[in-house]
Amino acid sequence: MFDFDTTKLGVIGYPLKHSLSPLIHNNAIEKLGLNYQYQPLEIKPGNFDTSINGLKIMKIKGFNVTIPYKEQIIGYLHNMSKEVEVIGAVNTVVNNDGKLIGYNTDVTGIKVTLERFGEELSNSGIIVLGAGGASRAVIYSLIEHFNVSKIHLFNRTVEKAEKLKGQFSEKLNFKEISCYNFDEKRIADVLSRAKLVVNTTPVGMYPDVNESPINHYKLFKKDKIYFDLIYNPLKTNFLKKAERTGAAGINGLKMFVGQAAESFKLWTGKEFPIEESELLIKNKFIDS
Ligand code: ATR
Repeated sequence: MFDFDTTKLGVIGYPLKHSLSPLIHNNAIEKLGLNYQYQPLEIKPGNFDTSINGLKIMKIKGFNVTIPYKEQIIGYLHNMSKEVEVIGAVNTVVNNDGKLIGYNTDVTGIKVTLERFGEELSNSGIIVLGAGGASRAVIYSLIEHFNVSKIHLFNRTVEKAEKLKGQFSEKLNFKEISCYNFDEKRIADVLSRAKLVVNTTPVGMYPDVNESPINHYKLFKKDKIYFDLIYNPLKTNFLKKAERTGAAGINGLKMFVGQAAESFKLWTGKEFPIEESELLIKNKFIDS
């Protein structure tokens, strides 16, 4: 139930029909017995400016930001975290009496996901597929939290990868990014120099579950780690191919719950029920 004192939270984006954030945040709120409520706040693109100015003056403590507003929201911020400054994308906003502060908690989601591979990743080479906002959060986390030595960045539009390279060189002084067109032959050439292959593109996401960003069997090797940011489906075609070779495969579920947990902490100061949230999402996929 909610009343006058209920603190409002939410997620802004368009479309929002399939967002799983309300499910896990409201479950956490209920479990912790907090007087909060988390709502999907769908904003049509033409209404963005009016809506954000409205949210600022409403009693809303904060909100998540998803596609297509992760970059656009930056123009409305009073302040931002170091992550946002480097990555240029926001997934969490805290509203301090009309002053919006932007964060990128995807970075924490990636950190908690890869933590158990920390030793293997330190000083190693990484292959990253895709150069959008999610890719920038992955690269930030790999540089800042895992001390990787080299990033091989593959993107359909190579100019976008080059721009990303420039940003990380300028803002984090990390000069070890090489950019390539998305080409399986080029990926095969650098595979021996990489420990981890990360898919940050939406290729293979529901409903296109039979697709994979890379397909040739030579690109899947037993001694590598394969990380797909997608969590719907939990096992993408990319991860199936990886696991068939005996390699370690990681899906995006831990990252999704990890980013939610960090956002929740920023708004409420409380710890999120991580395992229960992961289970809730798994069961949701089994049921549907
Ligand atoms: P996100 O915030 O999820 O990263 P984004 O910023 O739109 O979303 O970035 C999507 C990334 O996936 C981009 O690198 C995009 O490639 P382009 O820069 O060439 O657009 C990549 N991508 C999207 N669809 C793709 C496809 N069908 N094949 C290969 N790459 C794709």
